[in-house]
Amino acid sequence: MERFNTLFFVAGLGCFAIAAVLSMVFPFMTMQSYHGMDYQTIEDLAAVPSNEFVQLATDFPEEFQAAFGEVSPDSYAEALLLGRDLYVGQACWHCHSQYVRVVSNEEQRFGKPSTAQEFQNALNQPHLWGTRRVGPDLSREKGKRSNDWHIAHLINPKNVVPTSIMPRYDFYFEDDGAPKKEGFALVAYLQWLGTTLYEEEVTP
Ligand code: HEC
Repeated sequence: MERFNTLFFVAGLGCFAIAAVLSMVFPFMTMQSYHGMDYQTIEDLAAVPSNEFVQLATDFPEEFQAAFGEVSPDSYAEALLLGRDLYVGQACWHCHSQYVRVVSNEEQRFGKPSTAQEFQNALNQPHLWGTRRVGPDLSREKGKRSNDWHIAHLINPKNVVPTSIMPRYDFYFEDDGAPKKEGFALVAYLQWLGTTLYEEEVTP
């Protein structure tokens, strides 16, 4: 019996050591690498207005001018922040995730699994990961669709996806299809999603 006591004691110590490494040392090591990540402010994110934003200004000159004035880092920042706020306010996150998981071959559909670096910026705090996927993940949306597609889709999703059950957001657009300020902002935001991925990580 004495022999077994010693054995259990040593095994207990061993388990304690493994638990200590896994629950204390390992997270601490990972934390160290997160500390080195740059946080991007809205000024950083909007420093270079996207092609899609420029295109909105070209395609709807009067409406764009009235809503945002000229294309500039300032107007782009304003559009991105408003777009993010509308995304939150309309609960788009209730049906869409912004997080590519490492399971279920999601890589093949949405691209590289999400990394912590992508969320270290002003537009991702609070995170909009979402918990449900009634519609597809949107974290790599930039460039997947044209501005026109987004406009037609937001006005009435069935315009482009006949089986869609996504609600209409036509109140962000004029009767002739030109975006109101909110419409511009939502499209600019959707065309921004995925830009914080490192270049080489974007799956073609
Ligand atoms: C009730 C659930 C629901 C809500 C709320 C919702 N969506 Fe969707 N969304 C869907 C579904 C389902 C699809 C897939 C069919 C389609 O493309 O319309 C979709 C598709 C999309 C797509 C197309 C993605 C792609 O490239 O194929 C975009 C972009 C999108 N939604 C943006 C939004 C935005 C922005 C909002 C909020 C203003 C929103 N959705 C709110 C259900 C929803």
